[in-house]
Amino acid sequence: MLILGIETSCDETSVAILDRDGAVRANLISSQIERHKPFGGVVPEIASREHLASLAPLIRLGCESAGVSLQDIGAVAVTSGPGLIGALLVGVAEAQGLSYGLGIPLVAVNHLEGHVLSPYLRLEGAAVPLPARGLTLVVSGGHSSIYDVRSDERISIRAMNRTRDDAAGEIFDKVGKFVGLPYPGGPHIDRLAAEGDRRKFKFALARFKGEATADFSFSGLKSTAIRLARQESLQAGENMEETQKLKDFCASFQGAIVDQIFDRLDQVWEQVKASENPPTEIGLAGGVAANSFLRSQMTEWGARNGLVVRLAERRYCTDNAAMIAFAGLRRSGGSPAGDPRRVQAASRMEVA
Ligand code: KG4
Ligand code: ZN
Repeated sequence: MLILGIETSCDETSVAILDRDGAVRANLISSQIERHKPFGGVVPEIASREHLASLAPLIRLGCESAGVSLQDIGAVAVTSGPGLIGALLVGVAEAQGLSYGLGIPLVAVNHLEGHVLSPYLRLEGAAVPLPARGLTLVVSGGHSSIYDVRSDERISIRAMNRTRDDAAGEIFDKVGKFVGLPYPGGPHIDRLAAEGDRRKFKFALARFKGEATADFSFSGLKSTAIRLARQESLQAGENMEETQKLKDFCASFQGAIVDQIFDRLDQVWEQVKASENPPTEIGLAGGVAANSFLRSQMTEWGARNGLVVRLAERRYCTDNAAMIAFAGLRRSGGSPAGDPRRVQAASRMEVA
């Protein structure tokens, strides 16, 4: 059985084909970044139109590169939320058409569930078996949460925290934009930070007074970074050169984000480690999981706490349809879903 995955929730049109073992036979991504670049962020109307133009040809290409025809596909999985509603609708309508036309089941997938399971996909061959219980940190442009993931007959996913304001990727991008780096800023800050000294600039660790919570809060870091960049004349237009000062700033700012992430992960680990069947693995997923410093710190953190570390492959970090098809596969367990016409896109959606 082959499953076709479709992802159109934001600014990436993606199509993937996986076999029943979760081996990725094709995973194509058409990025719209160039279209949104002039605006410094994603413009929803442009996103929908780009998905409309790209999706059908990408499905054809996906089949070609996997060496299969549409008639070989046994199920279709599509991101139904959360995301930009107009963008989601393009994918959902296409998936409904395929499901109805080919007479195959349609599985609606929560985008976050795709990210949560993405560390288990391999570049080649069958997916890694899921542990009975693991934690997964998802950090992307729209989300920052640690999930407790249990897997037996079915998968259950519980959010252990959330962000009270901005997402980790969002502040990488906003601060990157302020200092004149191309959109999205995350990968550029990552690159510059590698040559910088993270002790040069100080950032305070965000805390909620009098509250026992592992929630993230990144907006304070963003404001501090922007104030600092202005003081240090690192503002866009004034100083676009990749100076040592900019590199030190990037290393310090990135270090502060990563410090907060591990402060919260320590808190969540304290809560769950003494439970009856504690998590045995820690996964790292989402666009920000491509960050080199975060990846190396996560490897150390896992080793320190005796957990197997599963870093999502970089190609499965940013939005992609392979993770959606995989979640569809795990979610459906191969059983037929309900009426495909009932599937609805929703901009907001909780994991379950
Ligand atoms: O998962 P994703 O493609 O889209 C969302 O669902 O949000 O994540 C995109 C985010 C952007 O904010 C981008 O700056 C960030 O991931 N990102 C990075 C890196 N690569 C991508 N942030 C830090 N370091 C990176 N290497
Ligand atoms: Zn995403």
